Amino acid sequence: MVYLRRWRLGVVEKGEHYSSRSSWNGARVLSRVGVLLLAFFSIRCQSQEPRDSAGLEKRVKQLEAAVPGVGEVMTATQLHFAKLFYAAGAKNWKLAAFEIDEVKENIEKAAALRPQENGVQLGGVVGAFEQTQIAFLSDAVERQDTDAFRRGYAEAIDVCNSCHRATGRPFIVIVEPTGPPVPNQQWSVGPATQ
Ligand code: HEC
Repeated sequence: MVYLRRWRLGVVEKGEHYSSRSSWNGARVLSRVGVLLLAFFSIRCQSQEPRDSAGLEKRVKQLEAAVPGVGEVMTATQLHFAKLFYAAGAKNWKLAAFEIDEVKENIEKAAALRPQENGVQLGGVVGAFEQTQIAFLSDAVERQDTDAFRRGYAEAIDVCNSCHRATGRPFIVIVEPTGPPVPNQQWSVGPATQ
């Protein structure tokens, strides 16, 4: 093992042979290791690091360009929020709970993407929304209480719209869905959904 390590470090000369008791010159090996480490770090500092940080900057720019905008994240929120209505309407409570999580995930994403808008701290509004109206909806879903769910849903719509007003977009008005958001998903609980 030690022999191998010394060989890798290039300190074993031909014919030299290692014995842990006598011929091991610890100081010599350590000093050679030190020289190697020094050489390694100076190479990193001189050439690799600037190249790495330029690469990193490029990668961050690429990722930033690939990240969805707040509008896209909100469109996803809208879709999950509408699905939630149909899932709860069909008493498909597992799907309803899933859609609540999707709504949470997306509004959190929106706040992370744009922490402040029109002087409004999005994270603060999202946190309050999750702790009150969304928590109420989750509780209604857990208790399988359709009436409470309908009340909670109307209150959640008010919060969606009050944030839109506060962030300077009073023209984005959410209402109770008048039809299913997609034609190709089953809302009711059936044998295949168990
Ligand atoms: C914390 C504030 C906030 C909350 C809460 C909020 N929104 Fe938004 N929403 C915004 C902002 C800001 C925009 C504008 C995004 C942009 O600039 O593209 C927006 C835009 C939208 C849009 C328009 C997207 C488009 O490009 O057409 C929809 C739809 C939407 N929100 C749905 C909802 C729904 C549904 C809820 C509630 C479940 C909700 N929003 C809750 C801040 C919020």
